[in-house]
Amino acid sequence: MSAPLLELDRLAVRLPVHGELSTVIHDASFEIAAGEALGLVGESGSGKSMTARAIMRLLPPRAEISGSVSYLGQSVPGFSRSALRDFRATQIAMIYQDPRAHINPVRTNGDFLLEAMLAQGVRPAAARERAVGLLAQVGIADGGRRLRQYPHQMSGGQLQRIMIAAALVTSPRLLLADEPTTALDVTTQAEVMAILGDLRVERGLALLFITHDLDLAAAVTDRMAVMYAGMIVEIGSSQTIHQDALHPYTVGLLRSRPKIGSRARIWVIPGRPVSAFEAGPGCVFAARCPYATGRCRTERPGLREVERQLVACHRAEELKGSVSFSAEAAISD
Ligand SMILES: Nc1ncnc2c1ncn2[C@@H]1O[C@H](COP(=O)(O)OP(=O)(O)OP(=O)(O)O)[C@@H](O)[C@H]1O
Ligand code: SF4
Ligand SMILES: [Mg+2]
Repeated sequence: MSAPLLELDRLAVRLPVHGELSTVIHDASFEIAAGEALGLVGESGSGKSMTARAIMRLLPPRAEISGSVSYLGQSVPGFSRSALRDFRATQIAMIYQDPRAHINPVRTNGDFLLEAMLAQGVRPAAARERAVGLLAQVGIADGGRRLRQYPHQMSGGQLQRIMIAAALVTSPRLLLADEPTTALDVTTQAEVMAILGDLRVERGLALLFITHDLDLAAAVTDRMAVMYAGMIVEIGSSQTIHQDALHPYTVGLLRSRPKIGSRARIWVIPGRPVSAFEAGPGCVFAARCPYATGRCRTERPGLREVERQLVACHRAEELKGSVSFSAEAAISD
């Protein structure tokens, strides 16, 4: 079998917090095949962005990692300086939640878009022509005029399209999209998602789609990984997880937001999300799980195959179909 495009194997990341190294990612393992879209879903602070930064080798100074990140079978942490430059210039690109934070406000959109091409020795006229073509691909028809404008003259949605066009300049095979639509209104969100979907089909682009929105991830990805407190707690086909989630946290996430037209009760997961370094020695979700037992609090469950997905829960089989966060939820100890 050929190597996956990207493979994480027991990736752990530790960062200096208050002078001490604290774990922010625990043993994250997943792979992305060429052309595949994987959703990375979880609440704020669960470690989604840090995972993407580890893949790009853009971790904060003094970060320590263990486990492996491989791209086409090659170790990303082991890349030499020039191999890393090559990797970022030709294979992988990243787009972010807030494009304004990642674009220089005093330079034109054209300066931003043409930069990488000019650095590669492309002639200015050819670079401009290619930039206008890329802008058309992301739904900006008047590219020539837009290249002369500044970021403040663009709406959030237009600027996100420019970020996507800039990410495509180098024809990457893998796009890391970190909450690319969270800051946009619903209509623009749908348009940007449609653009990403078209690019996947037209270019065979693989996508790591980071979001806190499980419904959105289910709609646009092939598989998804659910992250909590720096750990992947469930991974499998997006459709299966959306319909038959096994991990109590995933079930809680799915049922804790309102549905249009439904009068069903909205669940609330008790407590607050914790960071990886605040989780105890057992299951990272134990403090909020109505089904936590003594074993859950002392023994950390690893991902294991249950039904058609991988799930990190000691009680996944017995709880299947019965998880509830209502007052009647069974509490056993
Ligand atoms: N520079 C840093 N130094 C130390 N800890 C950090 C740093 N950046 C993030 N963290 C911690 O790492 C953990 C994971 O953060 P991360 O940004 O990956 O979360 P996230 O899932 O992307 O959240 P959000 O949905 O809010 O973007 C959090 O506990 C956060 O406080
Ligand atoms: S391992 Fe225990 S605490 Fe963790 S999710 Fe499963 S039942 Fe809940
Ligand atoms: Mg983030």
